[in-house]
Amino acid sequence: MDLASIDHLLTTTRSVRKRLDLTRPVDLKVVQECIDLAIQAPDGGNRGSYHFLVVTDTAKRAAIAAYYRKSFAAYLEARKEDYATRIYDSAAHLADHFAEVPMQIITCTEGRVETGGAMMQAARYGSVLPATWSLMLALRSRGIGAAWTTLHLAYEKEIAELLGIPDNMTQGALLPVAYYTGEDFKPGKRIPGAERTYFDSWAATR
Ligand SMILES: Cc1cc2nc3c(=O)[nH]c(=O)nc-3n(C[C@H](O)[C@H](O)[C@H](O)COP(=O)(O)O)c2cc1C
Repeated sequence: MDLASIDHLLTTTRSVRKRLDLTRPVDLKVVQECIDLAIQAPDGGNRGSYHFLVVTDTAKRAAIAAYYRKSFAAYLEARKEDYATRIYDSAAHLADHFAEVPMQIITCTEGRVETGGAMMQAARYGSVLPATWSLMLALRSRGIGAAWTTLHLAYEKEIAELLGIPDNMTQGALLPVAYYTGEDFKPGKRIPGAERTYFDSWAATR
């Protein structure tokens, strides 16, 4: 394997918000190719419980964006003090321009996560979230940016009605998707993995 390219992809696939090209439609064929790659991710029981709803319709994107913006405003109001400025700028920019992003992808999993204990919840989310991340990686490898978002879920039911999503589906993430501008991305700032890796007992690091 070409480790340099793979490591670069894994370390530089960012939440793209300010660098989404709002003027260029996203090639549907490329997106389908990325979805086909993404579904190689693990999926509980290999049942194909993942679903991807690609939204390009202008009125529907605007309606979803309005819900997103409303939820963002409420979220911000509740957490303004501890919200890091850099993320705030970027997140506010996305909220302001959400409707203009040429494509939105909502990933869904079969079954409602509220019905069932931790095992079923993990199985349901686990059947779509790995594929959602793989989709972001595949898109990035083809010059397309996305941001993992969940704020729309404050209006999950309303959005389900708008798009005809059946009652037994749980939405996982909403990705605003567009070609990115500029050349490259840098690795993100993270708490080092070694500080979060334990051996044999909780919090026992080496
Ligand atoms: C479960 C989850 C929910 C998220 N929800 C949102 C969101 O609603 N809006 C947003 O702008 N970013 C959202 N993010 C993106 C995070 O803010 C982002 O991943 C984090 O700040 C790290 O930045 P990076 O993805 O660029 O490395 C979410 C990420 C995850 C994993």
